[in-house]
Amino acid sequence: MTGLLITLEGIEGSGKTTQASLLHEALQADQIPVCLTREPGGSPIAERIRELILHSGDEPLAPGGELLLFLAARAQHVAQTIRPALGRGEVVVCDRFTDATLAYQGGGRTIPETFLTSLNEWATGGLKPVRTYLLDIPVKDGLERAKHRTGARPDRFDQESQSFFEAVRARYLELARREPERIVVLRGTDPKERLAHQIRADVQRILSGWTPKVQR
Ligand code: TMP
Repeated sequence: MTGLLITLEGIEGSGKTTQASLLHEALQADQIPVCLTREPGGSPIAERIRELILHSGDEPLAPGGELLLFLAARAQHVAQTIRPALGRGEVVVCDRFTDATLAYQGGGRTIPETFLTSLNEWATGGLKPVRTYLLDIPVKDGLERAKHRTGARPDRFDQESQSFFEAVRARYLELARREPERIVVLRGTDPKERLAHQIRADVQRILSGWTPKVQR
């Protein structure tokens, strides 16, 4: 086995970005080689695509255009950042990944899941996270928290309705029901220190059965 891919998911304001960076710090403190990254983004080109998706300007972005931009960014991110880090034997902590497409474009935009699954497989070469933490939070609470975030620049998704995010949340929970061994559901309203402790303890369990190997 080479590196390990761990992802964090959740709706806006769920706290997943905070938890991704706390996990990154904890692994660094334990001298474990770790790469913190995010989607959309995580490589120079993918970050440019992120800007296009989130701030598309006056031209409305069609659902198909949005989907394929997410997938283009993912293919680039996997090739340029994730696979090289896994090849070096690192733990990759990624803020959103393939499940976000199933939840937002599947649940939110109602694009058929079989199609999304094929695109995800194609863009990632079949790469799957070993563990995914889903920070679940009621939509109202999440949106309220996101609104009060300091320095946040409103993006295209901030204009979506509450029912859009309800559909996204419901699809995330459905994915977790289908894959309970991979997707761990955590209460996003819990104190962030408690969540960080739960995540760290679980990652330590995974790491105890793992020896990093560098790919030749
Ligand atoms: P962020 O809030 O984690 O920075 O993500 C930006 C937005 O992109 C967020 O509203 C979720 C959305 N998104 C999708 O709709 N599909 C995807 O595949 C990904 C990775 C993100």
